[in-house]
Amino acid sequence: MVNGVNARFDPSGPLRGRLRVPADKSISHRAAILAAMASEPVAIRHYLQAADTRSTLQAVRDLGAIVEERDEQLVIRGCGLRNAQQPVSRIDVGNAGTLMRLLPGWLAFQQGGIFKLDGDDSIRRRPIDRIAEPLELMGARIEARQGRYPPFTVYGAPLIGLEYALPVASAQVKSCVLLAGLLTDRTTVIERIPTRDHTERMLLRAGAPLERQGDVAGGYATTVCNTDELELDELDVPGDPSSAAFLIAAGVLVKGSRLVLERVGVNWTRTGFIRILERMGAIVLGELEPPGTFGALEPVSELDVSEGPIVGTTVEPEEVPLAIDELPLIALLGCYAEGETVVKGADELRVKESDRIATVVEGLRGLGAEIEETPDGFAVRGTGGLRGGGIDAHGDHRLALLGAVAGLASAEGVEVAGMDAAAVSYPRFAEHLEALSA
Ligand code: S3P
Repeated sequence: MVNGVNARFDPSGPLRGRLRVPADKSISHRAAILAAMASEPVAIRHYLQAADTRSTLQAVRDLGAIVEERDEQLVIRGCGLRNAQQPVSRIDVGNAGTLMRLLPGWLAFQQGGIFKLDGDDSIRRRPIDRIAEPLELMGARIEARQGRYPPFTVYGAPLIGLEYALPVASAQVKSCVLLAGLLTDRTTVIERIPTRDHTERMLLRAGAPLERQGDVAGGYATTVCNTDELELDELDVPGDPSSAAFLIAAGVLVKGSRLVLERVGVNWTRTGFIRILERMGAIVLGELEPPGTFGALEPVSELDVSEGPIVGTTVEPEEVPLAIDELPLIALLGCYAEGETVVKGADELRVKESDRIATVVEGLRGLGAEIEETPDGFAVRGTGGLRGGGIDAHGDHRLALLGAVAGLASAEGVEVAGMDAAAVSYPRFAEHLEALSA
């Protein structure tokens, strides 16, 4: 919803204390989808309870999985790889781009199945040709509005293997093709720049035949082949580093702050933001997974954040996928940093929940930032602070949360129009802030 609930975030006193950030959204989506593809029940601890990941639970229910919700644990009784049921009506992905782009990887090999997917206004502006192209090369058929937007229909078919070089650095597209490859002789996805690897790790954990070659600098080729079934038993979802990033930024910017964030996922393909922050001189302590690490586990760590001065930096294109959802925060931090902060090669931001280059630049400028839009990113001149004012979330959760953090660190506070957008990933953000300001 654009312009939903308004919320005000006043300049804050020191933020202090420790807390556990919400569970990882990317991993929660994958956990529910892979559990639905498994034949035996899967117990998922700490599944993210937020609008996006609830859409995924409803989607797998529509496809015949049984979801039992108990306190901090979910049990999903899946359909098995080949037996997704035909839903009675269209699958509603809500605002969840990851659900929209991953699920068709499974649906594509449900022979004879016809699955219609749709979502909210923001989802209807997000392209799906990036998954339709490889799935059609594998033998499925996809019909989409104007050939590239939801609503769209997946016609399941027997699939053939594919070697696919990703035209955009997208973990969603990579994941979709790898899921579709599970019933092919051999399917390989090649990525020149590494992107988040949660699907690969979870497939390994589920016993799927998956191999990966390459390295951090040259990128990876990941291959899957014929799989009888996925076996998962139990999954435990770590804290979301992208949600943690909002509190980390608040901790760095708000005078006198010191925060400890527990059980944050530190898979190296998600910690680009923390590495950029370190370069900016911020104090964020905690053990991060070394780049290039790969295996079935999702590492977690405690992060200890202190307020302090920061300097500007340049984010290069190869760093972008590892910090993609945190780049709006780099723009905010740039306002407080000494010198200039530049982000390059981030044109993918234009196809997120909003055009995040345009909305971040317009939003922060309205709060007093000296920020310029470029075709593939932005450049910010640090002025030591922000005045404050009003910002529109444009139905984008990360914009809403950005406005909130800006308010805490601003001179006059920030009114966020559409704060309810935050419910897709971080519904309890205001409550967490209250706990840290007490
Ligand atoms: C995601 C991948 C990224 C990211 C999104 C979640 C995922 O999108 O921006 O929030 O869970 O795979 P792209 O893969 O399109 O870059």
